[in-house]
Amino acid sequence: MNLKAGSGDREHTETSSVYPPSEEPGRQNYFIEKCREHVSALAVSRGRSLTFHITTLGCQMNAKDSEKLKGILLQIGYRWTDSEDADFVLYNTCTVRENANLKVYGHLGYLQSLKKKQPDKIIALCGCMMQEADVPEKIRKNYRLVDIVFGTYNIYKLAEILWERFFTGKPVVEIWDDAGQIVEELPSYREFPFKSGVNITYGCDNFCSYCIVPYVRGRERSRKPEHILAEVQKLADEGVVEIMLLGQNVNSYGKNLPTPVTFADLLRRVERVDGIRRIRFMTPHPKDFSEEVLAVMRDSEKICHQIHLPLQSGSTRILKKMNRRYTKEQYLALVDTIREYLPDASISTDIIVGFPGETEEDFEETLDVVRQVRYDAAYTFLYSKRSGTPAAKMEQVPEAVAGERFGRLLDTIHENQADAIRKNLGRTLDVLVEKENDVHGYLTGRLENNTLVHFPGDTGLIGKIVPVKLTQEKGFYYFGETVS
Ligand code: 5AD
Ligand code: SF4
Repeated sequence: MNLKAGSGDREHTETSSVYPPSEEPGRQNYFIEKCREHVSALAVSRGRSLTFHITTLGCQMNAKDSEKLKGILLQIGYRWTDSEDADFVLYNTCTVRENANLKVYGHLGYLQSLKKKQPDKIIALCGCMMQEADVPEKIRKNYRLVDIVFGTYNIYKLAEILWERFFTGKPVVEIWDDAGQIVEELPSYREFPFKSGVNITYGCDNFCSYCIVPYVRGRERSRKPEHILAEVQKLADEGVVEIMLLGQNVNSYGKNLPTPVTFADLLRRVERVDGIRRIRFMTPHPKDFSEEVLAVMRDSEKICHQIHLPLQSGSTRILKKMNRRYTKEQYLALVDTIREYLPDASISTDIIVGFPGETEEDFEETLDVVRQVRYDAAYTFLYSKRSGTPAAKMEQVPEAVAGERFGRLLDTIHENQADAIRKNLGRTLDVLVEKENDVHGYLTGRLENNTLVHFPGDTGLIGKIVPVKLTQEKGFYYFGETVS
């Protein structure tokens, strides 16, 4: 299945005398307009506006993609609703671990019951899980309630795909085998008025042996710096104060551009955009982390001293089998260098437990790194076998063994994490206020190092950066009070 843009007969079945443009983003704007007319006619006939709901699973990339999908649907004239009773329900899926897939299949049963009550409901699935070899076929055969399936490479084409569904009344499955162009300047809706993710690369070339991402998100592509800077400038003009530069391996940004640019160069240029006060990035790969980036961070007023540095395993033997291309010693040396440049840096990580062939000794090496680094936060995962990846064919660790190690790892992380947070207790630090807390009269915000802080305050402070005295620590968050 590889239905590239403009290859079908749809252009010639148009009733309108105007053919869709072949160039983007004009082509999508054309289909947004077609859908808008159709949705508006449906609203008149149903006597109410049409609604949509998007469920986003997975990482920051998916969250960013969902903002783009939401932007397109709002432009088409759908209204957002928090409920899955919506006229258009979209699942933006993840497939990094098997659980994510099971969640989607489980949920389709529930959507089936909703669709019985609302036969005109449109159900769509997109994202990483749809790029897996057998998934679209399985859905077509076993889940006939699904009207639209598309992947990761063609999310910008939502309006064109939806138009096809409206026009033909038949299910539409459009999965591309590889990435097409990067389409700029389509609508996007921001979840937060004051902070935003900004894509800098798409895809990944690292092929860690456990990971499905390179297969479902394709080869690494960098956005041109002028496009990134224009987006950051636009965000700043709209009042955004914090941006997160997004990529699977941000340190390799720009290598394949016609005029190569380094990540350090990009950071320097983003720093110069007025109005932006905090810059974060996610995710650097330890093997590509340059000292130049650390120097830029040290000299910067805006780049947060927060580094997410996935470890995955502390055993050099396992790291080799994972194809991570660094050793335990190189990783620890990098942490030392980070702390030389940025003594106050907050360091977080991802760790996989139970990778094929992991022995007790290998696992002890992971605990050793956790004790030495004293992470501020660590995200831990039980290894999940993803078919098509090299690790799926390796000898698996029994579930019970992996589960037992997982518990010990969590304990070790928590013991060390509690120490890290005490460093700032009693200090007054800047907090970007994000939202009202569930506790009445309280607000929740984040320190530069990303730690959560809850404190009493007025909702008028949301979106502002305010000094807060950190009065109590609770393991991985603080309570505080504003100071004038
Ligand atoms: N099993 C478990 N965890 C995985 N990750 C990626 N692939 C797998 C897998 N097959 C974790 C890695 C990565 C994070 C985003 O997800 O730790 O850094
Ligand atoms: Fe997956 Fe490794 Fe790429 Fe991260 S760097 S997305 S873990 S292949």
